[in-house]
Amino acid sequence: MDPFSFKTFLLFVCLIGCGSAQDILPEGPVDAVLSRDIVLTTLLTKPDYTAIFWSFNDGIEVTNVATMSAAGLKLKPAYEGRVTLNATNGFLTLKSLTSKDSGEYTINILFTDGNTRTAEIELRVLKPVSGVIIKSNMPEAVEHNSTVILTCSAQGSFLNFIWTNGSTLIVADGKRLTVKDEEMTSTLTIAGVLRSDLIGPIFCTAANNLEKEKSPAFNLTVHYGPDNVIISPASTPQFIRAGSNFSLACSALSSPPATFSWFQNQKAMEVLGPVLSLGAIEKLGSVTKVEDFTCRAQNAKTLRNVPSPAVSFAVMDAISGTKITGPTVTLIAGNSTANLSCQAMAGTVKTTTWLKDGKPLSTSSHLVFAANMRSVIINPLQKGDRGQYTCQLSNPVNTDQASFKMEVNFGPETAMVEGKEAVEVNEPITLTCSAESYPTANFTWKFNGTVTDVKTDKYIIMEAKYKNTGTYTCEAHNTVTGKTVTGSHKLSVKEEGALDEGLSDGAIAGIIIAVLVALAAAIGLIIYCRQKVPVESPY
Ligand SMILES: *[C@@H]1O[C@H](CO)[C@@H](O)[C@H](O)[C@H]1NC(C)=O
Ligand SMILES: *[C@@H]1O[C@H](CO)[C@@H](O)[C@H](O)[C@H]1NC(C)=O
Ligand SMILES: *[C@@H]1O[C@H](CO)[C@@H](O)[C@H](O)[C@H]1NC(C)=O
Ligand SMILES: *[C@@H]1O[C@H](CO)[C@@H](O)[C@H](O)[C@H]1NC(C)=O
Ligand SMILES: *[C@@H]1O[C@H](CO)[C@@H](O)[C@H](O)[C@H]1NC(C)=O
Ligand SMILES: *[C@@H]1O[C@H](CO)[C@@H](O)[C@H](O)[C@H]1NC(C)=O
Ligand SMILES: *[C@@H]1O[C@H](CO)[C@@H](O)[C@H](O)[C@H]1NC(C)=O
Repeated sequence: MDPFSFKTFLLFVCLIGCGSAQDILPEGPVDAVLSRDIVLTTLLTKPDYTAIFWSFNDGIEVTNVATMSAAGLKLKPAYEGRVTLNATNGFLTLKSLTSKDSGEYTINILFTDGNTRTAEIELRVLKPVSGVIIKSNMPEAVEHNSTVILTCSAQGSFLNFIWTNGSTLIVADGKRLTVKDEEMTSTLTIAGVLRSDLIGPIFCTAANNLEKEKSPAFNLTVHYGPDNVIISPASTPQFIRAGSNFSLACSALSSPPATFSWFQNQKAMEVLGPVLSLGAIEKLGSVTKVEDFTCRAQNAKTLRNVPSPAVSFAVMDAISGTKITGPTVTLIAGNSTANLSCQAMAGTVKTTTWLKDGKPLSTSSHLVFAANMRSVIINPLQKGDRGQYTCQLSNPVNTDQASFKMEVNFGPETAMVEGKEAVEVNEPITLTCSAESYPTANFTWKFNGTVTDVKTDKYIIMEAKYKNTGTYTCEAHNTVTGKTVTGSHKLSVKEEGALDEGLSDGAIAGIIIAVLVALAAAIGLIIYCRQKVPVESPY
């Protein structure tokens, strides 16, 4: 190769085959990272050659880098120690790449049969990707209002950018989301930002063919709301019991958290905070009619102020201290009158109900209610009017009640003496006196008109004697009504055996009935059995 100067050789090559098919080098360009090594490979396998030349064109001038021939490897001094050329396959290795190594590399081969081949490949020495970072045009944003511009910048060559939200690729829609890429930056513009847009975190990745680097996670607070401003409970009874543990709570979706204020019939109340207690409402005045209560949620960043739906109610005092006033004097059936009246110490009474012994009390010939139901007049009192009277006072928030026990004294009306009319001598005998009365009557007994010392309702004779024959009179006395009634009974004492007259009339009647029943049953059974005989087939 010595006889050829390099330029002469190139001229020669071009004369016989400049621009021939690139079947000796792969397709370019080849990318490599700054300060690393690169091997420019060939598609040759053990070619029979006289010489291989590698030259470099940086766009200004062409330099012969390395030559391999029978004389061995010859390098341009500037490449000494940094370049090798494999004699077997023509691979050119460049070490410690600098940006000046970027350019066009040309291989020329002079084959032993006299043919020549030439081919080129572009080498791009890329700066490493570094310093990938996202910056925002604003420190915090307001939902729907703000246009957020995020700029991702990076160092490196031939950069491409992608944006991800978490692990999801952010795709520009050309309307709300737009992306604009430049050599070293990418700009993501989000118009009318939404709270969900930037929760991410957001990443930007800058990459070239060889390397990529992801930015640190980026978050931007997007302020929003208040939305869904609601009061709980959303509805209440029409009346709330005064002084009860009742309150309304207002809530909203908001970032930063909303502040709350309260309104009564559209008028601002001096209450701040999410809770409006009944105590606070009552402090501002009584709510006797149904009124509307609303809250408003205010967001200091979005400057939005949103009202809640209204909750309406009135406040009512509970009924308490219910008492029945009734007669205090002794009451006597047929003579006395009772006025029962029911009053409450506090509260608004809407309905009054009267019960007697747990059952509703109703008007009758001797019982009338006052027009407002607050009192009952019973005139004249009867013995059946005795009992437990209850009055129930109600309004929408509670029911209170009181009871009154009314005693009605009566009787005794009649005195009845029960017992045998005849008894055998030496047999025991008991006479019982009964008289309906309240309070219970006191009893005294007379025999043949003479007072005895028996003072109970029973007159007991353990062994009857003949002298016990006579008239027994029971005297029943009610100390309250002052009434006394008497009842008489005749008893005769007979000799032993005088009353053993076989079966009594009752026993005889019982036997006759039993016989008749048995006879009827027998007849019934016979008729039943007859009917049960199967009907004979006509065939
Ligand atoms: C040159 O390439 C051949 C074939 O690929 C290989 O076997 C040989 O080791 C290489 N020589 C050097 C010095 O790297
Ligand atoms: C970004 O926000 C998410 C969700 O609010 C949170 O989990 C994450 O820690 C934040 N990251 C940074 C870097 O602030
Ligand atoms: C009021 O009610 C709430 C919730 O039912 C309860 O947590 C609170 O202790 C009550 N306060 C009083 C004073 O009863
Ligand atoms: C957001 O936009 C609305 C309507 O355009 C405006 O009334 C409101 O003041 C804006 N909020 C902020 C925080 O700029
Ligand atoms: C019953 O009423 C009459 C007349 O009003 C009266 O004379 C009598 O003393 C009364 N009896 C009682 C027990 O109060
Ligand atoms: C019954 O008593 C009440 C309360 O003392 C009174 O207001 C009312 O007038 C009385 N009714 C009659 C008929 O006396
Ligand atoms: C009581 O009266 C009856 C009849 O009137 C009479 O038979 C009887 O002997 C009297 N008994 C006494 C102890 O007086």
